[in-house]
Amino acid sequence: MKIIHGNALTILKTLPEDWFHVCITSPPYWGQRVYYGAEFTALGNEPTQKEHINSLVAVFREVRRVLRPDGTFWLNYGDMYYKGKEKHKGLPAKEKHRGLPATAMRLALAMIDDGWILLSTNIWHKPNAHPQPVKRHPALDFEYVFQFAKSEQPYFDYVGVMQDAKCGGKRRLRTVWSINKASKTGIKHVATMPEELVDLLLRASAPVVGCCSECGAPWRRVVRRVFRGKHPVECRDQLIRCGRSGGTQRITLDQTEKTEWKTLGFEPGCSCFGDTVPGRVLDPFVGSGTTLMAAQKYFLDGVGIDINELYVRDARLKLEAQHRANGKKRSHKNE
Ligand SMILES: C[S@@+](CC[C@H](N)C(=O)[O-])C[C@H]1O[C@@H](n2cnc3c(N)ncnc32)[C@H](O)[C@@H]1O
Repeated sequence: MKIIHGNALTILKTLPEDWFHVCITSPPYWGQRVYYGAEFTALGNEPTQKEHINSLVAVFREVRRVLRPDGTFWLNYGDMYYKGKEKHKGLPAKEKHRGLPATAMRLALAMIDDGWILLSTNIWHKPNAHPQPVKRHPALDFEYVFQFAKSEQPYFDYVGVMQDAKCGGKRRLRTVWSINKASKTGIKHVATMPEELVDLLLRASAPVVGCCSECGAPWRRVVRRVFRGKHPVECRDQLIRCGRSGGTQRITLDQTEKTEWKTLGFEPGCSCFGDTVPGRVLDPFVGSGTTLMAAQKYFLDGVGIDINELYVRDARLKLEAQHRANGKKRSHKNE
């Protein structure tokens, strides 16, 4: 694990292309907070929304270069209401109406225009969001997590992230995730991602079992579908869905079966016969180090970048402590 102190754009330019399996990041949001110690170079303080989006798109263009062709980029971004005065002062006059500046959506569109494939728009719902004294609209309790890819077929372990279905069995991961926001870390003024969220994204897109030392291809899960009887009648009725003609259409017999995916093991995703080495994770705005802390639990390799020296120092200390604790756990197991 390596945390580099510096400007994300400059440092990314020095990293090799097609290297990382997954990038998970939460950049500074526009006009939300000043990352102290780096007021003049930190992103998020651009005078206009357009400049902010352009700066992020430029950084993420470099992320695309260093991401493997089968890699995934998970981008967390939340919107906040326009507050007037200093914050969000660069919005067009007609949009200064205490509404949402929709920076997340505009960023997603700009990313598509820049060449990214948007694979999914996910909602990180925060059950423990702060109470808000709002009277004009519902209280905001979610952020976006966009899934971008370089190709149409990124590595995605859909079995590894299956959810429990209501009537037993498993179902594929849905797009709304209820995860409590992280409690305050030791670092002041940094908006941390919860480790549970990063853990989910890693299980989906990082080769947690390892990858080939020669070509980097992730090891892949070998699964068998097992049928475990029928869904209960009331559940089957719920599965009736609208047909194209506007009427209702019965689901096929196969869809009434409860299915489970049994993992038989993992196999190399290539035929190089190379050694197995850890997968590689990137976070260009690493802050308190949440992405790398979660990655280290799976013995993945990673690179984090941050412009704030204090955050870098703190995150390095946390990672080292976790590494030592992991080592102790491992040696206890071997005793
Ligand atoms: C929202 S925080 C990231 C929090 C992180 N995901 C965590 O869980 O702790 C954004 C981070 O971006 C950093 N940052 C701002 N501008 C930067 C730049 N130009 N290059 C690198 N890091 C930057 C800030 O110092 C801050 O730590």
